[in-house]
Amino acid sequence: MTTVPPLLRPARAEDIDAITRLIASETLPAVEVAEWLGGFWVLEEAGTLVACAGIERYGEAAVLRSVVVAASLRGSGEGARMTERALAFARDDGARRCYLFTMAAPEFFARFGFERCRLDDFEPDARESWQWRGVSGSEGLAGQVIPMRADLQARSS
Ligand SMILES: CC(C)(COP(=O)(O)OP(=O)(O)OC[C@H]1O[C@@H](n2cnc3c(N)ncnc32)[C@H](O)[C@@H]1OP(=O)(O)O)[C@@H](O)C(=O)NCCC(=O)NCCS
Repeated sequence: MTTVPPLLRPARAEDIDAITRLIASETLPAVEVAEWLGGFWVLEEAGTLVACAGIERYGEAAVLRSVVVAASLRGSGEGARMTERALAFARDDGARRCYLFTMAAPEFFARFGFERCRLDDFEPDARESWQWRGVSGSEGLAGQVIPMRADLQARSS
């Protein structure tokens, strides 16, 4: 039996429901997927969407969000592949710095140049993001999530 390798491709409108389900399955915020669809990448395996990652742009800044790999596929390098693809997309699109919030995976993102930072370290444009506004407006959330940032230009050579 031949196995077809998973296909990493830009998201399309018909992926919105599956992306939303994938994100929600990890109890991550499954909001504003349609609004930011142009920055989403998905991994499709035999017609099923098994991973996603999204980039939101705010001025010179990017925010990486919703990096999720289906549990059955984890540990096979797909999370790294999705993250690299999303960051390359942000860099090619002219973003100079990238921010994210994570609860469970700071060491994973450190592999891609992200360092822990404070909410106050988000540049003004990135503070327009729904994530920054949500976290900064909730003491409970701010105590749970880890903000991180990376210099995209430093990784472009
Ligand atoms: C985090 C996540 C995307 C990683 O996906 P994955 O496909 O398992 O990752 P990879 O197989 O590409 O792992 C690459 C390397 O990172 C390591 N790694 C994976 N997840 C890690 C984590 N949570 N913390 C630290 N290291 C991690 C792997 O061990 C691997 O190391 P190796 O190259 O030395 O073997 C996946 O676990 C996931 O979907 N988690 C739930 C959603 C989530 O928390 N997303 C992040 C917040 S947006």
